[in-house]
Amino acid sequence: MKVTVMGTGHVGLVTSVMFASIGHEVVGTDIDVEKIDLLRRGIPPFFEPGLEEGMARESASGRLSFTADAAEALRGTDVVFICVGTPARASGDANLLAMEQSARVVAKHAPDDTVLVEKSTVPAGTADRVRTTLEREGAGRRFHVASNPEFLREGSALEDALKPDRIVVGVESPRSLEVLRRLYAPLLDDGVELIVTDIPTAELAKHASNAFLSLKISFANAMARICERAGADVTAVADVMGADPRIGRAFLNAGLGYGGYCFPKDVAALRRLSERLGYPFPLLAEVERVNDEAVEAVAAKVEDALWNMESKRIAVLGLAFKPGTDDVRFSPSIALARRLLDSGAQVVGYDPHAGASAKEELPELELANDVYEAATEAHAIVVATDWEEFRELDLPRLRELMTYPLVVDGRNLLDSDEMAEAGFWYYPTGRPAVEPAAGAPVPSLEAAPSAPVEQRPAER
Ligand code: UGA
Repeated sequence: MKVTVMGTGHVGLVTSVMFASIGHEVVGTDIDVEKIDLLRRGIPPFFEPGLEEGMARESASGRLSFTADAAEALRGTDVVFICVGTPARASGDANLLAMEQSARVVAKHAPDDTVLVEKSTVPAGTADRVRTTLEREGAGRRFHVASNPEFLREGSALEDALKPDRIVVGVESPRSLEVLRRLYAPLLDDGVELIVTDIPTAELAKHASNAFLSLKISFANAMARICERAGADVTAVADVMGADPRIGRAFLNAGLGYGGYCFPKDVAALRRLSERLGYPFPLLAEVERVNDEAVEAVAAKVEDALWNMESKRIAVLGLAFKPGTDDVRFSPSIALARRLLDSGAQVVGYDPHAGASAKEELPELELANDVYEAATEAHAIVVATDWEEFRELDLPRLRELMTYPLVVDGRNLLDSDEMAEAGFWYYPTGRPAVEPAAGAPVPSLEAAPSAPVEQRPAER
């Protein structure tokens, strides 16, 4: 089939490569001419495992191409996927301007009987507005609107797109269902479940999924605050909860909280949608509050231990909103670095992939080339993103390089006993703090950092 993908961001580009890999002829288009220029040269504008190779393979096969000319991209198309951004407005509402503009371009240039599929995450009811735009501006041509929300995760996006847990299609015409079934036939033949719904259900199901995952994370973070006060271990609490298949262990990891381009905006958008529909959903406001508090809780531990932040040097390990990506949009690590800078500290960051984008986002941030450079003369290290390489730190070397051996673990990545043995004050999240073990290298400190009030070291 001939597929047009409008919007070549994370979702659009991955969707384009996925459809080309399963045999369709795909043209990606974007209003960002520079981005299209990069893509035509085979360069993805962001880091995503396997994407560059996939682009090269599918461009060579002739099934994948890019153009900034939307009219050309839409010529002779069977189906158009709208993958444009739907960022949050200040109110929390999704900004749907790019959706409207895309619908108008489709109305103007796409052939009769085209199926327009919303893949961007949009509030329930958006398809009605898209349909009205197509009817008003489509010069009498017939269009079919459908919803096909995307569940891919950054960092494993291509794999998620090729092996999804489920494919959800919201349809209102037999033609849309037939086209979507044919498009996804290779994945359906591999046994992927197809869930067919009406359009508002598909739109809402995506928001519900992201909001529920965010709720799980905030639940774990609220439990972390309680565990710190009760002397319990939130990781073990999550293990116990997660052993019940009705709950599940995934997304119960306490820490700095969720970030990225999806969860924060989708929770806010669902909260606003529910208000506009006359059913305010304050649970979602609480999810947001607990998430914001997660960054503050880590910053407070650093401040509590080091007293005045002026003249203190803090190393933030991990700047991306999660491992496996260079994306720093709404990254809790960046929020933390900003918060520490605001308190007067010197902040040096290190990330295996996201250094450059972090520097763009937060120019005051000093960047280090590796963990050890970041740790040099630092009064504290904060583990902010759970990159695997941070599990394998040379602790004696770190201990040697730092001014104060204080590590605040915002992702519960390190082992408490190993940290104590290596001579660190170690403050994980929602677990008992530890102090240097007897016999550990004697710290050459002017003053030992004090444990956060709520998280005094457990009796050893
Ligand atoms: C998320 C969803 O997982 C995808 O299913 C969805 O398609 C996507 O949003 C989207 O709407 O496009 P993504 O934003 O790539 O995917 O990131 P996640 O892997 O879900 O992580 C989100 C955030 O939650 C990260 O900051 C991560 O560090 C944090 N997190 C995750 C926790 O703090 N604790 C956990 O237990 C799990």
